[in-house]
Amino acid sequence: MPSAYEQAYAESLRNPRAFWAAAAGEIEWLRRSRAVVDDSQTAKPIWFPGAMLNTCYNALDLHAQTGRGDQLALVYDSPVTGTLHRVSYRELTEEVARFAGALADLGVEKGDRVLLYMPMIPEAVVGMLAAARLGAIHSVVFGGFAANELAQRIQHATPKVVLTASCGLESGRVVAYKPLLDRAIEMTSHKPERCVVLQRPQQTAGLAGARDLDWAALARAGAPADCVPVNAKDPLYILYTSGTTGLPKGVVRDNGGHAVALKWSLRHVYGMHPGDVFWAASDIGWVVGHSYSVYAPLLLGCTTVLYEGKPVGTPDAGAFWRVCEQHGVNALFTAPTALRAIKREDPNGERCRRHDLSRLRTLFLAGERADPDTVTWAEHCLGIPVIDHWWQTETGWPIAANCVGLGALPVKPGSPTKPVPGYDVRVLDDDGRELPAGATGHLVIRLPLPPGCLQTLYRDDDAFRRVYLQRFPGYYETADAGYVDEDGYLWIMGRTDDIINVAGHRLSTGAIEEVLAAHPDVAECAVIGVGDTLKGQVPVGFAVLNAGVTRPPVDVVAELVARVRDGIGPVAAFKQACVVTRLPKTRSGKILRGTMRKIADSEAYRTPPTIEDPAALDEIRAGLKSLGFAGR
Ligand code: COA
Ligand code: AMP
Repeated sequence: MPSAYEQAYAESLRNPRAFWAAAAGEIEWLRRSRAVVDDSQTAKPIWFPGAMLNTCYNALDLHAQTGRGDQLALVYDSPVTGTLHRVSYRELTEEVARFAGALADLGVEKGDRVLLYMPMIPEAVVGMLAAARLGAIHSVVFGGFAANELAQRIQHATPKVVLTASCGLESGRVVAYKPLLDRAIEMTSHKPERCVVLQRPQQTAGLAGARDLDWAALARAGAPADCVPVNAKDPLYILYTSGTTGLPKGVVRDNGGHAVALKWSLRHVYGMHPGDVFWAASDIGWVVGHSYSVYAPLLLGCTTVLYEGKPVGTPDAGAFWRVCEQHGVNALFTAPTALRAIKREDPNGERCRRHDLSRLRTLFLAGERADPDTVTWAEHCLGIPVIDHWWQTETGWPIAANCVGLGALPVKPGSPTKPVPGYDVRVLDDDGRELPAGATGHLVIRLPLPPGCLQTLYRDDDAFRRVYLQRFPGYYETADAGYVDEDGYLWIMGRTDDIINVAGHRLSTGAIEEVLAAHPDVAECAVIGVGDTLKGQVPVGFAVLNAGVTRPPVDVVAELVARVRDGIGPVAAFKQACVVTRLPKTRSGKILRGTMRKIADSEAYRTPPTIEDPAALDEIRAGLKSLGFAGR
């Protein structure tokens, strides 16, 4: 007898129309679609064509009107400010409606972009949902990005309005957001009409002329706005993510497919029910924050926890367990790096045992490979299933998981288990031929993609096709390598491009190289991701200086580190680089980054026969050793 998972998976591929039509029954539509999907272009399916809805209505008003008005929608827990704030569905609906009214007064209409550069505070969620209420398109920029990165996104998304806060709070320092926003806007030719600034008491910001408005005053003046009907295929948001160049890619997500897929996933992948408490300990600047801090929990009528703090240091390694106990969290979703940080400070899980975690049913991990050590440690401490699952900003929800809502399968530590219903995952060789079980190749998804995945890249449909669809016709290329074992379990081995994962944050080494290359003393450079016991990977740079540069290399390295912090942001965690006289290259001039990475990670490697100058590798090894890497 096939399991519920097997049945659902088979049905989702055999008859996707019936499968997703059933899931769509959970959404309150203003107009239903006659067809479930228009897949005449398999690369760009339109889910629920012709249907109309409002995502904010489904996330808030619907619950407020159907018996959940007094239930908590959001719990804001901020150890960095000592604040705890609980908001019911009724209160959140009213607040969002009023703020949407205020945005409408500023001229925000359906299709306009509203960009958010905000810390983890409830107003950020209010801003996202208010934009959705008006049919506007939000684009949240992670607060750890520097002015330059913010400027690129403002220039590309051309927002009418920017929402920000006077500051964010990182362990031990106040990050003044407003000056970063001002600097960013100085760099762009597109000027937002208005910047709405939430003043936080920890550090207020100066407001400039007519452009800048005080959030509180604006919100007070707003008359509640109704939900604006949008087409299912209309964009809900743009989320920029690292690509292989310095320019981020704007992933576009629709309203209809997104609402259907996320609501379905929270129930069936995560095993949640309306009324449960779900906590995704991610920043809203990342896809996990969008999907599982904001939209999925609210669409399903759960309570979501918004946490402004870190896994350690705010105040200690028991913070996550304190939050779980205090708010009765039923499922926690975090990145393995966060658990490694906790484990490092509390290896025996003593802090964990001090809390009543009886309501915590499952721990979900994603964002990077979940190393079996960390998974085993968490299982041991918590005594609950620890579920690794694999997904990307582009898909918006898991590609592979142990779908606990469909009945958990046996866990194989190190594997995110099996493809989630809707995803037809295959493994191809370099020539696009399907590989047998056990053989590592390119992980791809057969088109069309299920609902909720990216529709295109904002203002760059060519890049969408080139980056994801061109190499393997008929498939979406995930840019992850891996294999499927004889039991159908997936194993993710790492990226096939230059993306690295630093503390669960997705970064492009190419983007960091662009910053290094712009230094006047640098002739050429390479950046690689090196294994790190806490952050998974950290970027390490190598620079060849221009002939005639006589300054001490250590000074140049300090400037390179400062430039990356200033140009990309502290989140790049770029702290180490060394100066070398040459980079290892093939005779055709290709930098041997893969070999460099293997040296750094003390993995076995063969000197490529095509190498131009084998001695260049010795220099890399010496440089890495001086930084404390090679030969660990
Ligand atoms: N605004 C401003 N700066 C930020 C920031 C933000 N929102 N987020 C991070 N930073 C800064 C940090 O303060 C740090 O600055 P520093 O160099 O001055 O110390 C820098 O960016 C690097 O941050 P990070 O890599 O996060 O390191 P950390 O030491 O602060 O924390 C972890 C390490 C592992 C605890 C933390 O990265 C973590 O919890 N990661 C989980 C990430 C996650 O949830 N990802 C989503 C996928 S589920
Ligand atoms: P992001 O778009 O930031 O979510 O990053 C997506 C990338 O993170 C994927 O392409 C993978 O390389 C990596 N990733 C995410 N989840 C996992 C996982 N469970 N196991 C291994 N790698 C993962």
